[in-house]
Amino acid sequence: MKKIFITGCTGYIGSHTCVELLNAGYEIVGLDNFSNSKKEVLDKIKEITGKEIKFYEGNMLDKTILSKIFEENEIGSVIDFAAYKSVGDSVNMPVEYYINNVSSVLTLLSVMKSHNVKSIIFSSTAAVYGDSTIIPVTEECETGKTINPYGTSKLYCEGILKDLYKSDNSWNICIFRYFNLVGAHKSYLIGEEPNGTPANLMPYIAKVALGELPCLNIFGDDYNTPDGTGIRDYIHVVDLAKAHVSAIKKLELDKKGMHIYNLGTGKGYSVLEMVKTFEKVNNVKVNYKIVKRRPGDIAVSYADATKAQNELGWKAELTLEDMCRDSYMFTKSLKNKGVK
Ligand code: UD1
Repeated sequence: MKKIFITGCTGYIGSHTCVELLNAGYEIVGLDNFSNSKKEVLDKIKEITGKEIKFYEGNMLDKTILSKIFEENEIGSVIDFAAYKSVGDSVNMPVEYYINNVSSVLTLLSVMKSHNVKSIIFSSTAAVYGDSTIIPVTEECETGKTINPYGTSKLYCEGILKDLYKSDNSWNICIFRYFNLVGAHKSYLIGEEPNGTPANLMPYIAKVALGELPCLNIFGDDYNTPDGTGIRDYIHVVDLAKAHVSAIKKLELDKKGMHIYNLGTGKGYSVLEMVKTFEKVNNVKVNYKIVKRRPGDIAVSYADATKAQNELGWKAELTLEDMCRDSYMFTKSLKNKGVK
């Protein structure tokens, strides 16, 4: 069986996807430069699965290492997770973001092309929809009204992949648009480890509950939603990882095609609902106060996830309770290990 090459294999989504693919019997070749992850994740993946991935340390922009990987391994498909993902940093460092997120895809695709490997799953984001007027958001909704360089960098990559497919429809391309990822593997050995103060809601709530941050700032309670706070589609990272296993199976069967899927649960929860569920599931108190809206935020975003269900046979199974429990337990395990 040919191997799957995973870029960003020790990151939050990359590590969970490695676990699910190894458990499903696939062989993996991985690349990471640990710019936003740790070497120990490789040991954790082994501890969970009892299996190893063939690992290369390096940068996606380095054509030499990419070529070496394709020369030394028989690669069947690629899953490309390696990217910067901080919205705030992308606003402050757009050039670095475009180089890292867009040039890396171009380098990867050119190396894939020269080794005649034409099968790729690409990590995109619901941010490509911007503030959609249609809710739930389907894959046909308009894209392009991104509001930060992070979202725009992913949109450019989608455009590159679409052009590539138009030029040569023997490619097999799957674009996943992720909604709001949360949770951690039930071993609590891997999960999200944000650098510094988290920008996203769930890790922030977890740190408040653990007393590491004093209070959650809820960004606005005057949106046009039932309780006035923003509504998002939160999805457990293990469910999301499993979608990649389903997609790999589809790529193996289809051989060619270009497909785009939303990965969400299809349900939206408000910030206040998140806080309440988190408190109840974990039996903790989350102090919060309402502050003004965060610039660039939208009121409501959740997915129509039926396309992935119909075509990939994949559906998110884990509940909001699972997400709140696993995010808390993982953050707590970090605290117990003294990780800040
Ligand atoms: C953000 C990014 C999006 C990215 C996604 C996943 C923006 C505008 N969008 O989505 O591109 O794909 O993360 O990483 O940043 N909230 C609070 N207090 C907080 C943090 C968040 O009230 O301290 C609220 C937000 O206003 C929002 C919800 O919680 O209503 C979710 O926020 P967040 O977790 O940051 O995700 P998004 O903004 O949806």
